[in-house]
Formats: sequence, structure tokens, C-alpha cells
Amino acid sequence: MTASCTASLGFTPVIGVALGPWNHSYRAIMETGECVLSIPTVDMMETVVDVGNCSGDSVDKFKRFGLTPLPSDKVATPLIAESLGNVECVVREYPTDNGLYLFVLEGVKAWSNPDREERRTFHAVGDGTFVMDGETVNLRHKMTKWEDCI
Ligand SMILES: Cc1cc2nc3c(=O)[nH]c(=O)nc-3n(C[C@H](O)[C@H](O)[C@H](O)COP(=O)(O)O)c2cc1C
Repeated sequence: MTASCTASLGFTPVIGVALGPWNHSYRAIMETGECVLSIPTVDMMETVVDVGNCSGDSVDKFKRFGLTPLPSDKVATPLIAESLGNVECVVREYPTDNGLYLFVLEGVKAWSNPDREERRTFHAVGDGTFVMDGETVNLRHKMTKWEDCI
């Protein structure tokens, strides 16, 4: 599924993802306790929206959108070969009945694709528009209090 409601929850690989219970993926994660977060690039943008417009309940999205499943190492969920990176995750906290549908995921293995030429990712604004990665600014020399974290 396509998920834009995500958050990094610290310097360790803990990630929050808000998924509605109407999604096939929500039920799959509740049942298996695991998933893969796959990171697409700007050349995959239209596919990403298409993936978010249909359900794994009735569609094999790998086949329909020409995506290639690859075996993961620590979870049963497949990686997506075309993505820039994939993070295998296990669920650390499940949604509670407070209506937020927030999963707290722990990354247990990360993959990156060093051969990929297009490396720009993109971000949903929330109104159907998207912002693409632009210039990178390196301020590592100013991160004096956080040297151990970067
Ligand atoms: C750009 C975009 C962002 C989305 N972000 C989320 C999200 O953060 N959480 C969510 O529950 N659904 C989100 N959706 C909707 C799901 O991707 C959609 O309901 C999808 O059909 C679920 O697929 P599934 O039934 O195979 O799990 C988003 C859809 C799009 C197009």
C-alpha cells in the first residue's frame, strides 16, 4: 500500500506509521506482526499513487504495476526491487482504541540499491501534490551536541 502518514521516532530505527483499518495491509500487519517499508523514487511517483488507489484484497499489485518482489531476510514480506531502499520491520506497538491507528515499527534490516541512478525521493503534501527532494545542505560541522548520533 501507499502510506504517507509516517514519522521517524528517534535516532534508532523506530518508525511510526498510521494505517486505516479499512486497508488490506492493516489486516496483514495485524495478523503477521511484520511488514516492509519500501522507499520509492520520483520516477515511481505515478505508480505509488496508483498503488494507493487499489487494494491487495482484489489485486496483485506486484503484477499489475510491474514491480519485482525479492525475498527479505528477517521477515516473510517481500522487498520491492525497484525501490531505492527497503526496511524490514516488526511491529513493536499495535494501534489502540484511541482512533489513531498508529503502528510503531522497528526496523530489523535495511537494504539499499547502490546501482540506482535516480535517487531523489518525494513527499506527499496531503492534497494530491508532492514535493521532490532538492538540494542537500550539509551542517554536520554544527551538530556538536549530536556527534554520536550522526
Ligand atoms: C499518496 C497516498 C498516500 C496515502 N497514505 C496513506 C496513509 O498514510 N495511511 C493510510 O491508511 N492510507 C493511505 N493511503 C491510502 C492507501 O494506500 C489505500 O487505502 C490503499 O488502497 C490500501 O491498499 P491495501 O488495501 O492493499 O492495503 C494513501 C494513498 C495515497 C494515494
